[in-house]
Amino acid sequence: MGSSFSRHLRILRESIRWRDPFILSLLALREILRPLFYWHVWQIFETDITQQVPQPYAKEEARVKVYPSEDTPMVIQEQISAMGELEAAEVALRFARGELIAIAFVKEHPVGYMWIVLSSGMELAFDTYWIVRSREAVKYGSFVLPAFRGLGIHSCLNSAVCSYLCERGFIRTLSSVSVLNTQSMSLPKHNNTTIAMTVLMARIRKIDWTIRKSFRAPLETRFSWPQS
Ligand SMILES: CC(C)(COP(=O)(O)OP(=O)(O)OC[C@H]1O[C@@H](n2cnc3c(N)ncnc32)[C@H](O)[C@@H]1OP(=O)(O)O)[C@@H](O)C(=O)NCCC(=O)NCCS
Repeated sequence: MGSSFSRHLRILRESIRWRDPFILSLLALREILRPLFYWHVWQIFETDITQQVPQPYAKEEARVKVYPSEDTPMVIQEQISAMGELEAAEVALRFARGELIAIAFVKEHPVGYMWIVLSSGMELAFDTYWIVRSREAVKYGSFVLPAFRGLGIHSCLNSAVCSYLCERGFIRTLSSVSVLNTQSMSLPKHNNTTIAMTVLMARIRKIDWTIRKSFRAPLETRFSWPQS
């Protein structure tokens, strides 16, 4: 309980530090309204990896290894939760679902990771689920230890994951980035990745009403949800 609270506090402190005042006010307003109304805006990216794999631009030399779920040693699973973002139970759950993980090592120490999902069904939010077609993969849940941020380690993870998938016949990677997450938006900006879709979702809690809206492409081309 105590360690979970301090982890949340640490994550909150970090996320405040790298966001501008306008985005911070939006985040604060969203939290104040949370009991009544909550919303998300995502940019959805689709990258064709058959032509070219995005190149890393790290200032620190990082080695990346991809672990398939059935092949991940327990010591690695422990190292993932020891990085402080995810509880051990959540890590175990992701492996049980068959997800892969890419881990970045600097001087043999794990400093960050990125998760990979190869099939449909992962929830974006509010009962809205990714449609993942054959030879596509979703990259999500990137994390870099605070002491190693700003060095481009995320670009090493991204490049290694794309190479791994490309070598195995995958043609496209998919990802979602919240427009409020400046740190995460840096990678697609740097790589000039085209936005395939912008998704706006909101839920009015009292009446349990979900609003789903997309721009640039129809939502049903990439997501499914229960039709009532
Ligand atoms: C998002 C994240 C994975 C990026 O990893 P990274 O290896 O630090 O990425 P980069 O080095 O390319 O830096 C990205 C941005 O972080 C910010 N940044 C720069 N120095 C930083 C530092 N010392 N500490 C924190 N953030 C820093 C900058 O906005 C930078 O963008 P810019 O280079 O265009 O100015 C990392 O910030 C993180 O783990 N954040 C918390 C979890 C999260 O939000 N994950 C995304 C889920 S989709």
